[in-house]
Amino acid sequence: MSGSAPLVDAFNRRITYLRLSVTDRCDLRCTYCMPERMQFLPRSEVLSLEELHRMALGFIARGITRIRLTGGEPLVRRDVIELVRALGRRIGDGLEELTLTTNGTQLAQHADDLAAAGIRRINVSLDTRDPALFERLARRDRLGAVLEGIAAAKAAGLRVKINTVALKGLNEAELPDLIAWAHGQGHDITLIEVMPLGDVDEDRVDHYLPLGAVRDALERRWTLSASSHKTGGPARYLDIAETGGRLGLITPLTNNFCDGCNRIRVTTTGQLYACLGGSERVDLRAALRSDDPDGQLSDALDLAMRIKPERHHFRIDQRGATPAQPRTMSVTGG
Ligand code: GTP
Ligand code: 5AD
Ligand code: SF4
Repeated sequence: MSGSAPLVDAFNRRITYLRLSVTDRCDLRCTYCMPERMQFLPRSEVLSLEELHRMALGFIARGITRIRLTGGEPLVRRDVIELVRALGRRIGDGLEELTLTTNGTQLAQHADDLAAAGIRRINVSLDTRDPALFERLARRDRLGAVLEGIAAAKAAGLRVKINTVALKGLNEAELPDLIAWAHGQGHDITLIEVMPLGDVDEDRVDHYLPLGAVRDALERRWTLSASSHKTGGPARYLDIAETGGRLGLITPLTNNFCDGCNRIRVTTTGQLYACLGGSERVDLRAALRSDDPDGQLSDALDLAMRIKPERHHFRIDQRGATPAQPRTMSVTGG
C-alpha cells in the first residue's frame, strides 16, 4: 500500500488524468456509438453520488490533477451538478482542472451552474449542423437544443471545444464548414477517427474516415501549421491561418498516441478500465464498499498501474470484424 505515492504504470507513464463516467445513459443514440435498443447498466449497480465523490478524492490523494466527467451523457444524471460543485471545491487544492464532455442537449439549463462551480472549459460533441443529418446520426431531432446549449456555454464564459467524429460519406463534405463555423464562434474543434468499440446496428467500416486524407483536403483550402497547444489529451493541434482557429486531430487508428497516455477511466458502476481499448479492469466498487475504503481504493490504484497495457490494438479494415472491445464508448466514458 503506497499512501500518497504518485501513479506510475509499468511503462513509466505518469497517470494524472481521470475520466469518470457518471452515467452510461444518453438521450441520443449516435449510430457509431450505440445501437437503438441499447442495454444500459443496471441502476442498482451504479455508484451513488457520495461514492463517486469519495472515489474522486481518493484519486486526488494519489496525484490525479485533472478530472473529466463523462457518460453516456453526464448531464442526464439528475444529481451531477452536486458532484460538480463538490469536486469544484478541490480546484486549486489538489485538482488543477475539472471538465466535462457533453452532447450539449441539456447544456442550456446547466451552463451557468457549471461555470459557477469552477469549470472553465467543456467539450461538446457535434458531428453536423445539418438538422436532417443530425437526426440520421443521433437518431433524435435535437440539433436545435445542442446549438442553444453551445451558445449558452459561451455566454456563461465557458471555453468550448467541439468534438466531431469524422464519417465518410456522412459529414465528410461538411467538415470545412463545420470547422469554419466553430472557429467563427471562437471554439476549438477536434476531429476524431471512429473507434471499434461495442456492437452497433451498422458496420463502422462503411463510414470510417482516416484523418490523414481529411488533413490533405483541408491543406488544399487553408494554410495549416503544427500548433504547440496541448491539453493533456490525445489530440494533436494545427493552427489554421485563414480562420485564426485551432483544429485538433485524434487519430487512434492511423497515428497511435498511447506512448503519451496519462489517463485511466472509471465506469458509473465503479469499474476502473486501465485502457479505453483493453479489458484490464479493477473493481473499485468492491473497494469502496469494504471495511477500509480509502486503503483498498489506493491498493486498487496500484494494481491498475501494474495491469495498464502498453497500447490499444484498434483496427477498422475488415467488414464484419468483432469490435476491439464489447463495451461501447458510452460505458467507458471515451
Ligand atoms: P481534452 O484534450 O482535455 O480537451 O479532452 P479529450 O479530447 O481527451 O476528451 P474528450 O472527452 O473530448 O474526447 C475526445 C475523443 O477522444 C473521444 O472520442 C475519446 O474517446 C477520445 N479519447 C480520449 N482519450 C483517449 C485515449 O486515451 N485513447 C483513445 N483511443 N481515445 C481517446
Ligand atoms: N468512436 C469514436 N468516437 C466516439 N464517440 C462515441 N463513440 C465513438 C466511437 N465508437 C465520441 C462521441 C463524443 C466523444 C466523447 O466520443 O461522439 O464526441
Ligand atoms: Fe450519446 Fe455520446 Fe454516444 Fe452520442 S456518442 S449516443 S451523445 S454517449
